Amino acid sequence: MQKVKKAIIPAAGLGTRFLPATKAMPKEMLPIVDKPTIQYIVEEAIESGIEDIIIVTGKGKRAIEDHFDYALELEDNLVRKEKFDLLEKVRRSSQVDIHYIRQKEPKGLGHAIWCARKFIGNEPFAVLLGDDIVQAETPCLKQLTDLYEKVNSSVIGVQQVPKQETNRYGIIDPVKQDGRLYQVRNFVEKPAVEDAPSNVAIMGRYVLTPEIFDILEGQETGSGGEIQLTDAIQKLNGSQNVYAYDFEGIRYDVGEKFGFIKTTIEMALNRADLREDLLNYLQDVVEIQAVSKK
Ligand code: UTP
Repeated sequence: MQKVKKAIIPAAGLGTRFLPATKAMPKEMLPIVDKPTIQYIVEEAIESGIEDIIIVTGKGKRAIEDHFDYALELEDNLVRKEKFDLLEKVRRSSQVDIHYIRQKEPKGLGHAIWCARKFIGNEPFAVLLGDDIVQAETPCLKQLTDLYEKVNSSVIGVQQVPKQETNRYGIIDPVKQDGRLYQVRNFVEKPAVEDAPSNVAIMGRYVLTPEIFDILEGQETGSGGEIQLTDAIQKLNGSQNVYAYDFEGIRYDVGEKFGFIKTTIEMALNRADLREDLLNYLQDVVEIQAVSKK
């Protein structure tokens, strides 16, 4: 049994749902309060025992590499001004060793994962998508890697979504459920709502066996004209078990605007330095809106 020590974070998408903000800035650098979304993901990977991370980047994504690099001038400046709390925050993001590979064209999530195949080699690995931030007592990815060590098979993180939203996700067709663990008959990418086999949706956390790379190598384009990871997982499930696990924790969808706004508010409410002011402000806004509607 090999432990899961490597993770891929695909970040080469175009981020069209956030245009024009993402015209010159990576979507992964949009901050939730004061931390870029991708840093939440990197921290979850490290807290889950991942030792090596590769980020798949693309055009216009330089800011991600800079964010995880040293910022010597900035650090000197903060030392001179004795702003040691900020210095610690700035240093924190450069203390992890991250590798990068370019996806030369955004041909889809499946293709982005395939781009990292040489880095992974022949061992199980994790995939974390920046669109989902999960707050959980045990980090979401750790729940999946712990399970991988028990079942020695690929495990995909899932949660239930409202039926009318199933066309936005990869959806599983479960055969059997044992507590939070599902055996799966089919994995379907973005089915029409009326065709969705369940309302159990794939969230952005995966532990996969390396056989997925051989499948991705010959994978044709699927939904949206992109090479889909879900389609490759469906094929993998034909030759070895792929389980789905309904992980514990609150999942925030930061890949679309309303989810992003909600996450920002909730994370800010969890912060002692912002909570009271924000609550007062929200109350005022609600009252003013209620009066102006009358
Ligand atoms: P999304 O479809 O959610 O991201 O892909 P996107 O393409 O950046 O955003 P929209 O839909 O245009 O607003 C899920 C994940 O897969 C990565 C994205 O960066 C995101 O983390 N991805 C997607 C790639 O790395 N390469 C691709 O070709 C497509």
